[in-house]
Amino acid sequence: MKRTILLRVNGREEHLQVEDADTLLDVLRDRLRLWSVREGCGVGACGTCTVLLDGRPVSSCFLLAARVEGRQIVTVEGLSQGGTLDPIQQAFIEQRAPQCGYCTPGFILSVKALLEENPNPTDEEIREYLAGNLCRCGGYPDIMRSVRAAQEKRDPD
Ligand code: FES
Ligand code: FES
Repeated sequence: MKRTILLRVNGREEHLQVEDADTLLDVLRDRLRLWSVREGCGVGACGTCTVLLDGRPVSSCFLLAARVEGRQIVTVEGLSQGGTLDPIQQAFIEQRAPQCGYCTPGFILSVKALLEENPNPTDEEIREYLAGNLCRCGGYPDIMRSVRAAQEKRDPD
């Protein structure tokens, strides 16, 4: 069945007609053209489709769009402010974390949520928080360095 829902995405309100079975991933990519949100496994196991839902990382392939009506959704396209990249994006670039880059948007959003919740995580806490995001290129050491660099940029003291 089709219905019209309101999605709040990257600070904008979008009224969209969706099918009951449309996932949030389908709607973000196919309807709103937010290409940073990527499909990997399609079953909630790889984290490439991660978005922030009310500030928490979730797998958008595993959520029906109609279930998140009215809630705040953020994708990587919504992180930069006035053309300036978020410090986490800058850190990932400077540390050359992306190899193929497929997993990168999902990691950046999970790191954003992590550092909001816990500005000074231990290595173990970082690994645990990012356990739902997989990098098939094996770039974990570079990603770890990027988290530390982002932390430094957010809190230079
Ligand atoms: S595509 Fe959603 S978790 Fe893998
Ligand atoms: S950089 Fe290729 S999957 Fe992570």
